[in-house]
Amino acid sequence: MSAHKIIIAIDGFSSCGKSTLAKELAAKLGYNYIDSGAMYRAITLYFLRNQVDFNDHSAILNAIACINLSFIFNEQTQKSDIYLNEEDVEPYIRDMIISEQVSTVAAIREVRSFAVAQQKRMGRKKAIVMDGRDIGTTVFPDAELKIFMTADPEVRVMRRFKEMYATNPQTTIEEVRHNLELRDYIDSTREESPLHQADDAILLNNSNLTKEEQLEIVLEWVKDRATNVTILNP
Ligand code: DC
Repeated sequence: MSAHKIIIAIDGFSSCGKSTLAKELAAKLGYNYIDSGAMYRAITLYFLRNQVDFNDHSAILNAIACINLSFIFNEQTQKSDIYLNEEDVEPYIRDMIISEQVSTVAAIREVRSFAVAQQKRMGRKKAIVMDGRDIGTTVFPDAELKIFMTADPEVRVMRRFKEMYATNPQTTIEEVRHNLELRDYIDSTREESPLHQADDAILLNNSNLTKEEQLEIVLEWVKDRATNVTILNP
């Protein structure tokens, strides 16, 4: 009997470890992993590079018409890199300047329609793990498995700080805390698809879980929902 492939939607606030879980899960299942936040980050990069006025509706539409986003698998990192108009922009999209503006850009209706339409297309063949803020609520409301991740605020701050510090030792804990609090606020109070837990999503608080423990728990949830699951050992 052939395997029954499913869609796995992972949502939650910034720095809850969504991408770590999503990437490991996809590798174990042989699924495609899509980091939807990378799409909003790449759009923000384009807007900043081209000085697009975030309040100018037609400038936004014109800019979006010039944006082509694609994901290409990177053997080294074992995850897909995002390409903005044929350029691999992974090295730029996690910079603080992008993190400071991305929630504002992601709250723009035209930006969301553009990104969500592409995300829905990516899920047509199933066998996908996508993480973000509205994946279980808007992008894939029928996903077979929806997870809403949380972690204690200080745990999140320290995780993000360590990540940022590795590439930019000028980063301060205060700066990271402020950015996370601001993004939580914007992401959960915006008009368009605000971040909230879908009614049928399972809550996963990973403050006190190791990566291995969390993966084990979620693989059990997958086995409950997809038949003939083959767990790969990369
Ligand atoms: O996951 P991340 O921190 O890279 O996401 C960057 C921003 O993009 C985040 O502040 C909110 C936004 N985002 C969104 O609005 N919807 C998604 N599906 C993914 C991210």
